[in-house]
Amino acid sequence: MELPTRKAMKLSVIRHWFVSAVAVVALAGPMAGCSRNEATFNRNEAYVKNQERLTKETFSAERKADLDEVLSGLFGTPDRPIVPALGDIDVASVMDATKLHFAAGPVGRDERGRARGLYREHCAHCHGVTGDGGGPTALFLNPYPRDYRRGTFKFKSTPRQSKPTHEDLKRILIEGIPDTAMPSFRALPDNEIDALIHYVRYLSIRGESERSLVQYALFELEPADEEANIEEERLFDLTSGNRSDRAAELREYVGAIVQKWLGAEAEATAVAPPSWLANGAELSHEREVELLKHGRDLFYGKVAACVKCHGDSAIGDGQTTDYDDWAKELEPTVPGALDEYLALGRFVFPPRNVRPRNLRMGHYRGGRKPVDIYWRIFNGIDGTPMPALSEVLKQEGEEKIGVTHDDIWALVYYVRSLPYESISQPVAVEAAYQRERQ
Ligand code: HEC
Ligand code: HEC
Repeated sequence: MELPTRKAMKLSVIRHWFVSAVAVVALAGPMAGCSRNEATFNRNEAYVKNQERLTKETFSAERKADLDEVLSGLFGTPDRPIVPALGDIDVASVMDATKLHFAAGPVGRDERGRARGLYREHCAHCHGVTGDGGGPTALFLNPYPRDYRRGTFKFKSTPRQSKPTHEDLKRILIEGIPDTAMPSFRALPDNEIDALIHYVRYLSIRGESERSLVQYALFELEPADEEANIEEERLFDLTSGNRSDRAAELREYVGAIVQKWLGAEAEATAVAPPSWLANGAELSHEREVELLKHGRDLFYGKVAACVKCHGDSAIGDGQTTDYDDWAKELEPTVPGALDEYLALGRFVFPPRNVRPRNLRMGHYRGGRKPVDIYWRIFNGIDGTPMPALSEVLKQEGEEKIGVTHDDIWALVYYVRSLPYESISQPVAVEAAYQRERQ
């Protein structure tokens, strides 16, 4: 892998500081009542570049300008969010205009005396004013603050590709994410938490819509529309009457994303207790020992293969050179690619490897209740290499392998026992040792 040069990295840091300084001025400006500094969304240049590299197409300056215009028509600005009109779709339960107003904009009161600016006050210095994960403090954190624009969330009760439920996001805000910079906002009143959740969804839906429209422009419109003379008819024009079909088509893209959020509540993985606790039964000591052994066998076995990443000793030192999906988009392993992305300027850098969790610590980012660990193992952790055991089941056929609901519970028990288990030797060594003792 070719790493960017020291000079390039230094430049990135300087550039980042410069951008941060501009961001701080932008933050301070509106507080002084100076509307000239209204925050705006910056184009997701890294994603455009990523798609250009993938398709070997060019996203022309004119096309970019069209994209910006469409997006600001649909979503407004971070200070003045618009809830896109999407026909019958119940957008308001995902993004409520009043709640967005409460969370958006500079900290202070609006002309009618209503409080606002919650997001700017509590979140923007890490997650960035636009939710791109590039706030002024981002560079110093590991993991980096989340860039919401991919629409990917990690710690949820729903399957890998699904959106988190309202409860999932609420839990994140109340509990924070242990062992990361993401703090707990337990002290905030319910209505503020609620407004922040709506605003995070707004930033995420806007960001994902942008990505979707970039794809639309690159994949859906060509080559057929090339003949329709794109130079004359502006690509995304939503205003001129004869393009109303296209306007409806674009809104469908946004609608599909909103629908995914609306569907999340129904997708939460229901978790029944393990069979040995059915009907209020108690777990005997012998049974518990058995279960832990079974969980251990699964952990080190071929099907669940937890050991591959979490390591023989479960301290997270198995496969450690992988990246998460946010970093992968900057193609860190493709020689020369990083420099191209770096030249675009504004994002957190360098991409860092995602490390499997050290399971000897008993620290869980997504919550330490048994059901939290169940969801992590069953659904995986979206955006990271941590796979969903449910998918392994589907791929290889549940019957053939015989991994059951109870097996997953046995893994949950075993994972939760790891901080207390004497640190194991690599299994092969230990097995040899056991044989010798017999
Ligand atoms: C001090 C920095 C910091 C602040 C302030 C902060 N966050 Fe975070 N946040 C993070 C980091 C770092 C992560 C990524 C953790 C990870 O990937 O494991 C994160 C992740 C998240 C996630 C993703 C959760 C998931 O399941 O994927 C959400 C949602 C979120 N933050 C919302 C907020 C909101 C809303 C606020 C303000 C009320 C806020 N954050 C303030 C650092 C911060
Ligand atoms: C392909 C690599 C890989 C495999 C296989 C894997 N994990 Fe993970 N696991 C990870 C990574 C990476 C993380 C950290 C993700 C993050 O939070 O960014 C993780 C995190 C976790 C966490 C922490 C959850 C939290 O809330 O902090 C648990 C628990 C866990 N894995 C258990 C398991 C179990 C049990 C298995 C086997 C069924 C397994 N993992 C298989 C890569 C893997």
